[in-house]
Amino acid sequence: MTIIVTGGAGFIGGNFIHYHLKAHPEDRVVCIDKLTYAGNLSTLAPVKDNRNFRFYKLDICDREGVYKLFEEEKPDAVINFAAESHVDRSIENPEIFLQTNIIGTATMMDACRKYGNIRYHQVSTDEVYGDLPLDRPDLFFTEETPIHTSSPYSSSKAGADLLVLAYHRTYGLPVTISRCSNNYGPYHFPEKLIPLMIANCLNDKPLPVYGEGLNVRDWLYVEDHCKAIDLIVRKGRIGEVYNVGGHNEMKNIDIVKLIIKELGKDETLITYVTDRKGHDLRYAIDPTKIHNELGWLPETKFADGIKKTIRWYLDNKSWWEEIISGEYQNYYDKMYSNR
Ligand code: NAD
Ligand code: DAU
Repeated sequence: MTIIVTGGAGFIGGNFIHYHLKAHPEDRVVCIDKLTYAGNLSTLAPVKDNRNFRFYKLDICDREGVYKLFEEEKPDAVINFAAESHVDRSIENPEIFLQTNIIGTATMMDACRKYGNIRYHQVSTDEVYGDLPLDRPDLFFTEETPIHTSSPYSSSKAGADLLVLAYHRTYGLPVTISRCSNNYGPYHFPEKLIPLMIANCLNDKPLPVYGEGLNVRDWLYVEDHCKAIDLIVRKGRIGEVYNVGGHNEMKNIDIVKLIIKELGKDETLITYVTDRKGHDLRYAIDPTKIHNELGWLPETKFADGIKKTIRWYLDNKSWWEEIISGEYQNYYDKMYSNR
């Protein structure tokens, strides 16, 4: 089987490619990635010489380029990870989110329709459900929870999800959607909470906690997400949405304190800064459907996963130090100075 993986030079797509080439050595994996600020070829260095792996620098919105690629590679399935993924950037500049996340999704699905009704999987997010109140720990997102977005990012992902379901109903495209909670693990771009706090802690820089740090996220080790996607692509029911998450809710401030403790630093590094606009309070996934239908369960406990992740950042300093020494610095100054 030949699988096109979009956005494979990013965090989850890159981890997925590593996982997939090991788990299914008989498959060919063709990665396409535009290499935006979030795409990093060094993430794919461990697989670059694998004879079942190919990389193309390509924008998923480039219809001509995408069609040419489908003609050359004749894929059996497409897994769309490519996206603008950072909420804070979407608040600053929504337009590119609409372009990549919505138009790019439509372009990839049009190619799937044109070249033989190819199996299509959309990697979506629990953020399409909006948020849950902090004082109702009994509430969870199920696949039936109404779409109710907060940020330009989540709205663009929700728009894409609706298009995916429409392509199934209207054209009979064989699609599935996964909606996952917050991932953490190796190769996570240091603009996101966990890698940002690890990098700042290691550099003895202030740790910028939004608001009071009481917002809750439901964390999943990235490899568990990759396994869930693999199962859905192989065994999921066509036209269905699957929520993915591991019942691991934590307050932001508790994550930051845990990182400080693991790295032997001091809590005086914590700096409370102005809250994110429209900040979602709590995410919490009910994964009953994927568990009952596909037998998926998360395998990595948070206590182990966070240690492995911190170890990875300690052992792979060159990967993230190169990122934070470049254009990232301008981004950081713009987002955090005088906040
Ligand atoms: P990321 O920002 O780390 O990586 C995105 C990748 O997509 C980068 O390599 C980038 O170069 C590429 N890309 C961006 N625009 C492109 C375009 N127009 N054409 C081709 N490539 C393009 O993102 P991530 O955290 O790995 O997220 C991957 C997917 O998973 C996204 O769709 C995101 O919405 C979803 N998701 C992420 C999380 C999370 O916690 N990170 C959780 C649930 C769902
Ligand atoms: O739930 C899935 C989503 O998780 C994905 O769809 C997104 O692509 C991914 O970026 C992530 O979104 P979040 O907004 O939850 O992740 P982020 O790491 O940006 O922030 C996590 C929490 O930490 C959030 O409540 C905001 C807070 N935060 C974040 C940063 C970057 C801080 O307090 N300080 C920070 O500097």
